Amino acid sequence: MTTNPELLARRNAAVARGVGHVTPIFADRAENAEVWDVEGKRYVDFAGGIGVLNTGHRHPRVMKAVMEQMERFTHTCFQVMPYESYVELAERLNKLVPITGTVKSFFLTTGAEATENAVKIARAATGRQGIIALTGAFHGRTSLAMSLTGKVIPYRKGFGPGLPQIWHVPMPIAHYGVTVEDTLKHFSFLFRADIEPSQVAAVIVEPVQGEGGFYEVPAELMRALRRICDENGIVLIADEVQTGFGRTGRLFAMEHYDVEPDVMCVAKSLAGGFPLSGVVGRASIMDAAEPGGLGGTYGGNPLACAAALAVLDVIDNEGLLSRANEIGERIKVRLEACSRRNDVMPIAAIRGRGAMIAFDIMRSRGAADPDPEATRLVVKRAYENGLILLSCGIYANAIRILVPLTASDSVIDEGLRIMETALVAT
Ligand SMILES: Cc1ncc(COP(=O)(O)O)c(C=O)c1O
Repeated sequence: MTTNPELLARRNAAVARGVGHVTPIFADRAENAEVWDVEGKRYVDFAGGIGVLNTGHRHPRVMKAVMEQMERFTHTCFQVMPYESYVELAERLNKLVPITGTVKSFFLTTGAEATENAVKIARAATGRQGIIALTGAFHGRTSLAMSLTGKVIPYRKGFGPGLPQIWHVPMPIAHYGVTVEDTLKHFSFLFRADIEPSQVAAVIVEPVQGEGGFYEVPAELMRALRRICDENGIVLIADEVQTGFGRTGRLFAMEHYDVEPDVMCVAKSLAGGFPLSGVVGRASIMDAAEPGGLGGTYGGNPLACAAALAVLDVIDNEGLLSRANEIGERIKVRLEACSRRNDVMPIAAIRGRGAMIAFDIMRSRGAADPDPEATRLVVKRAYENGLILLSCGIYANAIRILVPLTASDSVIDEGLRIMETALVAT
């Protein structure tokens, strides 16, 4: 039997250091919300491959759709010889996104490609260059996506100055003392100091920041962003790569707001474990690029499109939107109770929509002093005891839960028990 330490030694010798790893455990097989490692040990999965598995590992319906597609063809390149599943997926997403009027889509492979392409389209449509993002944002690791990302370590450190014409305004986070008013003040400083609004192509925003710490954009700010965009002919891009496909209790997190984006980036749980991303938006903007300017060899791969069509059916047939809300409530109740215990680490700011739940670990109760070391310890204790758990946040002190929405109550409770044990202060 190959062991985890043996594989870890081979990994460290063969794989570049910059590819981080949360656990030293090597996967052997997985089913719904459970994973087994190469040594046969079982884990509850609260990470879902970083928000990719809202429909769980190997959902039978997704597997069947992919198997059937595999029997027919696995690749032609949509730009060379198109296929129906790609078109059908575009048709379905165009109807499902919270954007009124005529909507068009196209598909890529990764979330970073989706954000990059959304920016390219906004630039082509407006003839402008400037892009505004928020601090703490994560939009990917490729050059343009990295420049949109609002966190230096580890995403930007050592990789140069980033691309020009990209600015960040502060993300309001109440318990770290940043308000919506602060964000809006920064917009007006930016428009006076660095770029006229008439030169800005797009504002890009995650409705709930993912890597940044599961902080939600307040409704007041989302409305203000829409107003700034409308007054100045700017494209509003919603990055729903992590929030999409039921995670927040609606199909898309933008449905929690009374404003519409112009363009949306989707990926991760769209295809239940197969690499697929997309850009969806108002046809007038989406059609701005010249034929051939968008796409990619693997974009909208037929296996991934088959998976995505099945994922949309599963979300609908299994009532996963209401299940996300139930799961979120279940987790929050347990966390609230845990936060009142004297024997656990100081937990603050239990938050989240639907099943996109996070909380912060602090050095002391009632103070804004993040504890990233304790957070790392909780993640380590969790996997040692059979739970795959992720941290996040600008101060690396948030624990986030991205359990599959198909997980049973008993598996979720088992995971929560392990997490509570990991939180006990030593
Ligand atoms: C909101 C958001 N945008 C973009 C990305 C980048 O996606 P990928 O890692 O597939 O390039 C991520 C990944 O975590 C994300 O959470």
